Amino acid sequence: MEERVKEIEREVTGFLVKTKVDLENFRMKFISKKGEVSSLFDDLKSASVEEKKKLGKVLNDLKQLAEGKFKLMQETLESNSADSTEQIDLSLPVIPNKTGNLHPLNLTRYRIIEIFERLGFNVSDGPEIEDDWHNFTALNFAENHPAREMQDTFFVEKPTRAEGGGNPDVLLRTHTSNVQVRLMKNQKPPIRSIMPGRVYRNEAISARAHCFFHQVEGLYIDKNVGFADLKQTLYHFAKEMFGQDTKIRLRPSFFPFTEPSAEIDISCLICHGKGCNVCKYSGWVEIAGSGMVHPNVLKNGGIDPEEFTGFAFGMGIERITMLRYSINDLRLFSENDIRFLKQFKAVV
Ligand code: DAH
Repeated sequence: MEERVKEIEREVTGFLVKTKVDLENFRMKFISKKGEVSSLFDDLKSASVEEKKKLGKVLNDLKQLAEGKFKLMQETLESNSADSTEQIDLSLPVIPNKTGNLHPLNLTRYRIIEIFERLGFNVSDGPEIEDDWHNFTALNFAENHPAREMQDTFFVEKPTRAEGGGNPDVLLRTHTSNVQVRLMKNQKPPIRSIMPGRVYRNEAISARAHCFFHQVEGLYIDKNVGFADLKQTLYHFAKEMFGQDTKIRLRPSFFPFTEPSAEIDISCLICHGKGCNVCKYSGWVEIAGSGMVHPNVLKNGGIDPEEFTGFAFGMGIERITMLRYSINDLRLFSENDIRFLKQFKAVV
């Protein structure tokens, strides 16, 4: 019998109580009238007086052990469940989910794409690490033409022949016009595409200039595309982007890859043409370069300039975003200051 008592003692101490069901099982097994401890007391009835004296105390200790554990576990479970109801207090105010939002440059990029897609333009992509041919030569920049320097190119260090180096003219593209050339090579007209992307120039960083920024290139090549198409397309764009009462103006300009070339100005959104420091008191703000694609560029792209004509344009996404939201420092776009970024919720 002593052996049996020890065994039950071990069972009582080792019994794991984690839930109310465990607690009830514990009670049934050791404490209830039909439980193991009670049955030992029953066995004691038939024992001799001597044994009763000796074992009675041992059995009472076992009974206390089981009852003590039961009480303790009951209290623990009760206090735990009180805690857990507190955790789901339905009257507490909701902690709002912190959702991110789109970067202002992306908001502008999506809006530009939306406007041109409605005119039948698709979206194309090209490499940021480019070779001299696609970035300059094919676009009619003469060898040693000062425009190559005008764009402050970052050249990627030439790998030597011993290092297995190939093309010595690798650079970070200075404009998105490189994609024009790739499109012409890969597609037959009609081509109607816009090409958004990041470009790089070796410029000192300031409120008005940065060593990387974003452009959207546009290209439309088909039979009988004329300057009026260019003008009307950009006129439509300006009104959609900046509001229906926006005016546009074309100024003659020069780009090696277009002839004739024009810069596109819009009436200043801040002063509505009266003159302010955003438009440098001219009433006009430049938003894009444009022109009719130069026959040499068409040829370099494998397109017959006798059969097809086209227009192209390029604009800065930062510039348009700054006008759209009255932002006066280019650096804000790349500093990742959350106080700046979170102001652009869902304004597409
Ligand atoms: N690539 C020019 C720049 O980065 C912008 C540009 C001007 C693109 C005229 C064009 C264009 O397609 O026709 O300054």
